[in-house]
Amino acid sequence: MALLEVERLNTFYGQSHILFDVSLVVDKGEVVCLLGRNGAGKSTTLKSIIGLVPPRWGSIRFKGQEIAGLPPYRIARMGIGYVPEERRIFANLSVRENLEVACRLTPGEGNGRRWDMERVLALFPRLRPFLERRAGTLSGGEQQMLTIARTLMTNPDLLLLDEPSEGLAPVVVQALKEQLLRLKETGLTIILAEQNVRFVSGLGDRVYILEKGHIRYQAPMERFLADEAVRMAYLAV
Ligand SMILES: Nc1ncnc2c1ncn2[C@@H]1O[C@H](COP(=O)(O)OP(=O)(O)OP(=O)(O)O)[C@@H](O)[C@H]1O
Ligand SMILES: [Mg+2]
Repeated sequence: MALLEVERLNTFYGQSHILFDVSLVVDKGEVVCLLGRNGAGKSTTLKSIIGLVPPRWGSIRFKGQEIAGLPPYRIARMGIGYVPEERRIFANLSVRENLEVACRLTPGEGNGRRWDMERVLALFPRLRPFLERRAGTLSGGEQQMLTIARTLMTNPDLLLLDEPSEGLAPVVVQALKEQLLRLKETGLTIILAEQNVRFVSGLGDRVYILEKGHIRYQAPMERFLADEAVRMAYLAV
């Protein structure tokens, strides 16, 4: 059984029909990339899965259970961690407090081995010197790392990452990629919404491409990377 099975998702903002029969499958331990241009529906897909923008119809099964229509806090408790596009840290709390607050939230199973302060700091060593600093003073890259670290503290079985590389300097993007590679090695299952093909290459196992709310393409990463026509059609600016 797949960890997540999304079947014919149709999501609306008011009258606007945004997602059209979006289907995707994520197996345990996979890093699945959701690619597409601005406005393609990547964020809406993740928001539908976590329940912030529930689908009007369609099915979302997580660990075999239907979750479409459940409130986000219940979906999160079942073991889905969500890192939104806009990095939502607590700017006035210290880095340590940001991590501790998350730790008190109800945890999922976390893939056997649980996350704690030491383990997230080993993954994101750049955060360690800033533990007592106000999170709002961190750079964009450090805030992105803190947001991911905080979500890991809830021990998710599935992590939804919405354009983590967006707006970061190339050297920071590279550091983040290496950290996500190490995270992948822990066996964590990830859905990665991105536009940056270089960032996802070598990181993702499979690719889905969204265009105007439709899944237009799906393939293993190597096949996608070899297919320049696909990249030109759906991703190039
Ligand atoms: N709150 C909203 N109300 C109405 N329409 C919205 C809302 N949020 C997004 N949309 C529309 O839904 C469509 C999909 O947007 P979405 O944010 O999911 O795309 P995306 O692939 O994440 O794009 P980006 O790469 O810019 O983040 C777009 O046409 C967008 O204008
Ligand atoms: Mg988006």
